[in-house]
Amino acid sequence: RLPVEASACGKVILLGEHAVVYGRPALAAPVCGLRARARAEPLPPGAGCWIEAPDTGERLRLSEAPDHPLARTVRLALEHLGLPEPDLRLVLRSELPVAGGLGSSAAASAALVRALFRWADRTPEPEIVSALVYEIEKLHHGTPSGIDNTVIAYERPIRFVRGRPPVLLRIARPFTLVIADSGVPSPTRETVAAVRAGWEREPARYEALFDAIADLVQEAEACLQAGAIEALGPLLDANHRILQELGVSSPLLDHLVEAARMAGALGAKLTGGGRGGNVIALVRPEDVEVVTRALRAAGARGAFATEVRAD
Ligand code: MEV
Repeated sequence: RLPVEASACGKVILLGEHAVVYGRPALAAPVCGLRARARAEPLPPGAGCWIEAPDTGERLRLSEAPDHPLARTVRLALEHLGLPEPDLRLVLRSELPVAGGLGSSAAASAALVRALFRWADRTPEPEIVSALVYEIEKLHHGTPSGIDNTVIAYERPIRFVRGRPPVLLRIARPFTLVIADSGVPSPTRETVAAVRAGWEREPARYEALFDAIADLVQEAEACLQAGAIEALGPLLDANHRILQELGVSSPLLDHLVEAARMAGALGAKLTGGGRGGNVIALVRPEDVEVVTRALRAAGARGAFATEVRAD
């Protein structure tokens, strides 16, 4: 048999992170240019199933790593396919920063799931990929809303409400984001736990902040449907301010967001769990260069542009 390959995209939360854990809607888009890739290569009979992640130096045997998230992913996919442990080498590589708010864990799981389905000559529906990856996300993140696995499985911009099927976003005009990495890893599990602690301390205040985010999400969806891209900028800024109040920004993230705005971005915010990870800046196409440069000068490890479109 010949080796097979599969991949999965990264993602950005446009608006609504954290509030989405508490039942509010959020908007998310795939980042098609940053991907996790899995390759499945046949091994001689009896060799067993091996998972390798050269980026992190990990190499594990499926049968000897019961609790490792990558092994759990493979086992879940095999169970779904009704297959016993195959003689297979699975190699996982990723362009996504780990704990960077761009969905690295969900993308890795999705790439592995797709590679195993392809190996079995099957094509999984997005909802199957999403459901399998969600099981693994719960191991990584504790109480995830399910938005990461959903947007990555569908690879389309979505409006997401926890526990419901996603709604594909109508986007009248494509728009450009610059994504910039603070270089500070920040596991989502920790920021989600920090927000939960705040919510338990001051439930009324946090619920009001989540409601304010939900209003912004609704306005942003209307802007996207109308092609009113310029009007989206202030909504991103307002969402960032609420995330500051929720305690999930950081001086560096605030500095990056401010630098993007000063350089001409229409709006900017942190994306994902926060405290570290990435920021997004909404830019006119002609301002990509100057905003990218400003973000790098302000301390971003990397900054690149991506286009968000409906198809
Ligand atoms: C992570 O991409 C988004 C959060 O809202 C967590 C979640 O929804 O599971 C911070």
